[in-house]
Amino acid sequence: MAMRKRVEETLDLMGIADLRRRPLVELSGGQQQRVAIAAVLAAQPRILVLDEPTSALDPTAAQDVLAAIGTLVHDVGLTVVLAEHRLERVMQAADSMLYLPGDGRVVYGPPGEVLAHARITPPLAELARVLHWPEVPLSVREARRRVAGEDLLVTAPVHPAPPSEPVVLSTRDLQVRYGELIAVNHVDLDLVRGTVTSLLGRNGSGKSSMLWALQGALTCSGTIDVAGQDPRLLAAAEARRVVTLVPQTAADLLYLPSVGAECAQADAESGVAPGTTAGLLRTLGIQVPDDRDPRDLSEGQRLALVLAIQLAARPPVLLLDEPTRGLDYSAKGELRAIVRDLAADGRAVLISTHDVEFAAATSRRTLLMADGEIIADGSTAKVLTSSPAYAPQMAKVFAPLPVLTPHEVAEGLP
Ligand SMILES: Nc1ncnc2c1ncn2[C@@H]1O[C@H](COP(=O)(O)OP(=O)(O)O)[C@@H](O)[C@H]1O
Ligand SMILES: [Mg+2]
Repeated sequence: MAMRKRVEETLDLMGIADLRRRPLVELSGGQQQRVAIAAVLAAQPRILVLDEPTSALDPTAAQDVLAAIGTLVHDVGLTVVLAEHRLERVMQAADSMLYLPGDGRVVYGPPGEVLAHARITPPLAELARVLHWPEVPLSVREARRRVAGEDLLVTAPVHPAPPSEPVVLSTRDLQVRYGELIAVNHVDLDLVRGTVTSLLGRNGSGKSSMLWALQGALTCSGTIDVAGQDPRLLAAAEARRVVTLVPQTAADLLYLPSVGAECAQADAESGVAPGTTAGLLRTLGIQVPDDRDPRDLSEGQRLALVLAIQLAARPPVLLLDEPTRGLDYSAKGELRAIVRDLAADGRAVLISTHDVEFAAATSRRTLLMADGEIIADGSTAKVLTSSPAYAPQMAKVFAPLPVLTPHEVAEGLP
């Protein structure tokens, strides 16, 4: 009986009570993550060690999980050790911080002090640098108070509307079904050459399903037109030249024993000159020996390798499914630069992400999905700032000013 009660409490705590009869394979990544955390909680541990527990979660779900963890810490007295790249999500809840610079040292101390000297830059740390604050504010609230105290006058940045042509990918009435469930519901979407578009939405809203459908890999109804072709009708080798997807678990695409072998294979599959993929990898800023096992690469390097493979055939449309998962701030910065270069090169890039800070800094246009439908489509500034769940930290600090990034704050200073 006690166990049964505990299970029910845990299901409620993690907000997964309504999923209990669903097979695990049918759950979206975020739903699975919450189930995994609940399974650990059910054993009532004294110390809970979590490795990036929110990296797969949408902002609201992440907040729910962190709130539940907070309850465990405050009311149950549990000790939580939490590894996280996206500090903006967790730093206000931390009592202390361990920073591993990567040279074998462990820096331990109060979060504000550790952050002031660390080479990790959540938006509030960047803001502190921009405004020459000696200490990093740990919460939006603290930052807002300091900004108000300094009578800071920041000029509003200009966010031009995203271009609407030339269109390179176009869907009409796109629908993806899994049995009874409609994952993508009558989507009309136009992607424009030379642009970066973010795709946001709760876990399970249909983002991945839409990306797989656009790539032609899912059975779906409606029309898809990419540069005059329907990717569903193309053989794999041809489809790669039209549209490619870097999936959520990018490493799944890597199966050969060395980086060199993967590159050579991609050259062959894409029908391009030998050395093309390896060259792309270098342009993406990655220098690794040819004989390195892909499994021994860092997350950022592995992502770059998959990107290079997927880009070898020079498709005009590139789809990225949650590419910033597991990336640190510098790797994210590199990915941002890569994506911008691809857009400058004339490609259309569509990025599904829960990382609103990345979306704010990277894309001009943002789509918001809910229940399989696109419920908002417009400039990133407008879409992100019109919903508190998706507002980046700078927008919250400087509201009602539509400032998205510390960079825009710097530009807007007198
Ligand atoms: N292979 C599948 N079989 C059945 N249902 C699925 C499958 N893949 C995803 N779903 C369901 O479809 C919906 C959309 O999932 P998904 O496209 O993964 O969303 P997102 O990427 O936004 O988290 C969710 O309700 C999910 O549970
Ligand atoms: Mg997904």
